[in-house]
Amino acid sequence: MLLEEAIGIVMANKPLRITETVLRDGHQSLAATRMRTSDMLPILEQLDEIGYFSIEAWGGATFDSCLRFLGEDPWERLRTLKRHLKKTPIQMLLRGQNVLGYNHYADDVVREFVKRAVDNGVGVIRIFDALNDVRNLEVAMRAAKESGAHVQGAFVYTISPYHNIDSFVKVAKDLVQLGADSICVKDMAGLLAPYVAYDLVKTLKAEISIPIHLHTHYTSGMASMTYLKAAEAGVDIVDCALSPFALGTSQPATEAMVAALEGTERDTGLKKETLYPIADHFRAVKKELAENFKLNTAMEIDTKVLTFQIPGGMLSNLLNQMKEQGMADKYPELLEEMPRVRAELGYPPLVTPTSQITGSMAAFNVMLGRYKVIPREIKDLVRGKYGRTPAPIDPDFRKMIVGDDPIITHRPADDIQPQLDSLRGELAEKGYPNASMEDVLSYALFPEVALKFFEATRR
Ligand code: CO
Repeated sequence: MLLEEAIGIVMANKPLRITETVLRDGHQSLAATRMRTSDMLPILEQLDEIGYFSIEAWGGATFDSCLRFLGEDPWERLRTLKRHLKKTPIQMLLRGQNVLGYNHYADDVVREFVKRAVDNGVGVIRIFDALNDVRNLEVAMRAAKESGAHVQGAFVYTISPYHNIDSFVKVAKDLVQLGADSICVKDMAGLLAPYVAYDLVKTLKAEISIPIHLHTHYTSGMASMTYLKAAEAGVDIVDCALSPFALGTSQPATEAMVAALEGTERDTGLKKETLYPIADHFRAVKKELAENFKLNTAMEIDTKVLTFQIPGGMLSNLLNQMKEQGMADKYPELLEEMPRVRAELGYPPLVTPTSQITGSMAAFNVMLGRYKVIPREIKDLVRGKYGRTPAPIDPDFRKMIVGDDPIITHRPADDIQPQLDSLRGELAEKGYPNASMEDVLSYALFPEVALKFFEATRR
């Protein structure tokens, strides 16, 4: 115990490390994931020199966006980044058994995807599951470990009667058991309040010996305060974005975090002056992206997320959908309906894909009457096809949604047959008999989008 306390003190007196998110979450949050490889290239060597823990640059929505909107091969982007980022590990975000898509995939797809990601340049893989069901992380974490990557097991932070510090610590310990090299607290909606962060990090540091990494969003306006309290509690690493792609629904600004801790016992050791020219580059990139793609890159905050727990981007999407249906006046009802649906569904954290599933159900309920139309994804969630929900689902509610359909209590992917061979066969039939494994994986995740991309680039 004495030794552990001593280690605790040493840990608290070391530099706070920073992961730079400008190449992934920064532009995913503020510029609809439209940053192109060519926007990154001129500045990569300078980014590599900064001294970050890692540079998050792949996964999340970037894979889909490359293929769908930018006419880029995401694998080629990764290889290019790796050629220029020689010192700093490239970090990616992976949705466990969902990989980078929206459904569960077979274990062979998950394993091969992880292996190829590492082979092509990823050094740190952050893996999470929307329901914090660790069974959905097992295969991806094992594959990442075998591939030699740093495996970061993440749990999503949310607020509900069924989530508390103890429940989060329990998930974190499960992730340690699965071989995690570090633990990430993933607060995708910016709900983590500063003093809660302090208690959560303090408890995690006391119970777990591997590094704790905190990821939050500025959405509610609390993120900088949350990082400061987490730093005081001994958090090892935090995610920041260079100022042009910070704040709003993105992360706190890297330069400000570096400046705030200068000369303290958590001094990041980074030189803010070295960040300014890189920030200048990205300021110009943001301006150009906003004009070219007609994006709203506003950096304001929205405290309503603290009450309704609906991430900012999702609120505006839902409002737009309702406007299109001529039902904008029902928007206040939607804000009330959302938490109700979430409770009925067993309090899933609202993150891809559960945020979209819960959000559209609430919108249908308000526009058409409660559960008059029930999308397939809702039935799947209620049946257990995404995994175990944080709270048990009421049996009467379940019966109303799925009738007497069988309930899934095992690991959902156990029901999925291997997919790689048949996917390769499909691609051959469509005219790509010599497709690379990377192309097969792109096709596995986003079949139609990938085919369109292949038609434009592989013929
Ligand atoms: Co994020």
